[in-house]
Amino acid sequence: MAIDTSVKLVNDMDHPWMPLRPGDLRGPCPGLNTLASHGYLPRNGIATPTQILNAVQDAFGMDPDRAQLLAYSTMLVDGNVITDLMSIGGKSCLTGPDPPKPATVAGLSTHAVFEGDASLTCQDFFFGDNHSFNPELFDQFVDFSNRFGDGFYNVTVAGELRFQRIQQGIATNPQFSLVTPRFTTVYGEAAFPLVFFVDGRKADGRLSMQDALGFFRDSRMPDDFHRTDESKSGGLVNTFIPQIFGAHPTQPGRNYGSVNTFTVDPNSAGLDADCSLYEHFVNDIVVPLYPNPQGVLKDNLNANLGFFFGPFKQGNCTRIFPYGQ
Ligand code: HEM
Ligand code: MG
Repeated sequence: MAIDTSVKLVNDMDHPWMPLRPGDLRGPCPGLNTLASHGYLPRNGIATPTQILNAVQDAFGMDPDRAQLLAYSTMLVDGNVITDLMSIGGKSCLTGPDPPKPATVAGLSTHAVFEGDASLTCQDFFFGDNHSFNPELFDQFVDFSNRFGDGFYNVTVAGELRFQRIQQGIATNPQFSLVTPRFTTVYGEAAFPLVFFVDGRKADGRLSMQDALGFFRDSRMPDDFHRTDESKSGGLVNTFIPQIFGAHPTQPGRNYGSVNTFTVDPNSAGLDADCSLYEHFVNDIVVPLYPNPQGVLKDNLNANLGFFFGPFKQGNCTRIFPYGQ
């Protein structure tokens, strides 16, 4: 049966928003937080990659390749591949017994494996809390939307605000880092609200401040919210990303221990989710966490590495087998 990708009501009777219960975990991704608070993901914030894949497509119309790349890259660095569970927030014993260190299995809030600096509504890790909604940063989000988007977050605002957050990091965070994969994800994440947080019946790339506050602060969809059309969402995101980048082209790099020491890193992958990004993620991020896996751990790492490779295969990348074939 063909998968239904159409615009449809997703804030429905079966998925009511509910406030957090003691112990429920939320993290740095407003998309996944919202899915958990509407019951598209387990409300406690502990999920399998399959649940995440299904939920982001069903409730937000995210294109399957992007969903697969996100779900399995994060599973490999932040999840427990033995129990197949990941926290969408901080570390939790609910993901089961940890594999041997240096693996961390510490959830999506873990800094510098996937989560990174220059988020639009969360502070940099250096300042303490890298995962909670930050009201001052949201004030800046509103201010930029008023100045550049007539009160809406649109692609022009995204270009200006994306650059502003990078400049703020360079000027205030001695540890500021914008290298692979963060250099790529910052642009995608600035585009996501334009596509996935805008009602699919409208799909005009203009997000109201009221709706933005609902998603970013309260993990809540607007009443009567309809998801966007999955067959169009991937193309839209791919159109917005170069526009956001093109407003103020930047290069990957980092500060070196003091502010305003930003130095370009020529070894970092560029804007596209290309083969060098794939290779870097496997060799320099996954393998150091799992230098010598054995048995089930090795088998499950290989399986997850295979799922992570899926979207890159279509880009004609060559698969890497760090643990043998
Ligand atoms: C940010 C994971 C899907 C919207 C993030 C971050 C993580 C993450 C770890 C934090 C990065 C950072 O800002 O430092 C994931 C995973 C997904 C997923 C594993 C699985 C498919 C989605 C979806 C949406 C979304 C479907 C939209 C509906 C966002 C936005 C940000 C973000 C807007 C940036 C927040 C900010 O800059 O303040 N995501 N995400 N994500 N995510 Fe997701
Ligand atoms: Mg961040």
